[in-house]
Amino acid sequence: MVVAVEWLEEPRPMIRLIDQTRIPHDEAYLEITTVDALVDAIATLAVRGAPALGAVGALGVVVAMLQAKDEGWDDETLDAQVRRIRDARPTAVNLAWGADRVRPFVGQGVDAVLAEARRIVEEDGAANRELSRRGADWILAATGKERVRVVTHCNTGALATTAWGTAYGIIHELHRRGRLGLVYADETRPLLQGARLTSWELTQDGIDHVVEVDGAASSTILRGLVDVAIIGADRITANGDTANKVGSVALALACRRAGIPFVVAAPSSTVDLSTATGDQIVIEERDPSEVTAFSGSPSAPAGALGFNPAFDVTPHDLISAVVTERGVVEPATEPHPQLLARIAG
Ligand code: MRU
Repeated sequence: MVVAVEWLEEPRPMIRLIDQTRIPHDEAYLEITTVDALVDAIATLAVRGAPALGAVGALGVVVAMLQAKDEGWDDETLDAQVRRIRDARPTAVNLAWGADRVRPFVGQGVDAVLAEARRIVEEDGAANRELSRRGADWILAATGKERVRVVTHCNTGALATTAWGTAYGIIHELHRRGRLGLVYADETRPLLQGARLTSWELTQDGIDHVVEVDGAASSTILRGLVDVAIIGADRITANGDTANKVGSVALALACRRAGIPFVVAAPSSTVDLSTATGDQIVIEERDPSEVTAFSGSPSAPAGALGFNPAFDVTPHDLISAVVTERGVVEPATEPHPQLLARIAG
């Protein structure tokens, strides 16, 4: 299994990232030893996916502390640099969560911060495996199918996490149990996380799949070609509203009309109880040129304006199940303002 985020001590202390902008064409790695390089990797999506961002949020504090030592930063400068990492993208709660979890250890020195960051990495892998078992059990019971056909959106595999994956982890778990049918992977415009990354992981894992354009997904659901939609999450609010890659809410609406489950899978670190409802989530707006150009070439007339929200919010009443490593709740049928407290971190 690919390792998206790793701490290495040799030849010098660094975060090693697989550069996700180059997959599937190249498997190249970035060696991150400065805050600037990390912020750039986050902004360009060389590292992406909420749980992976949690890990680099935490490990990034170690990078900042080492750079502070080398360059003689005072405490105020160090704090400002940590905040640059923490705020490099706004929607996935995990990035700020990872940085904030290790910050109390800064006074104890680099080793203490690194130890806590390593715990985050360990815990994430274990959480993903556990939520995958729980999610697979829930889906098999809910659908009653011998082989479950799945549609998924964006990338939620090992690349998006520290290991195994979330929504992808459930798909992998169904495959491991011999209970998986065909997987429909949405290509995920504009940056193609589904076509480039999910299809790459499914291919490596020997899982039968097709890549479809995002616009096909709701029709795939309404035509009865799939039994469940499984997606990841960037932030799940206290009532179960969920931010995920733009296009997710279209799947949820189609699932409701088709009467099939729409399942959100995430580690408990993605649950944000301090945000009450989805309308309080800040949705990242990316450069419009990602929409008006394709692979660097213009795809819209010169001067056309792009609109590029990177995420959307699915209201809790469209979500059949939210699965974390702590359990499953069913927001569509048991709505409650603090529903997610039961399975939060
Ligand atoms: O913009 P991205 O690629 O970081 O968006 C990622 C997603 O929307 C994922 O579905 C989400 O972070 C969950 S990853 C396990």
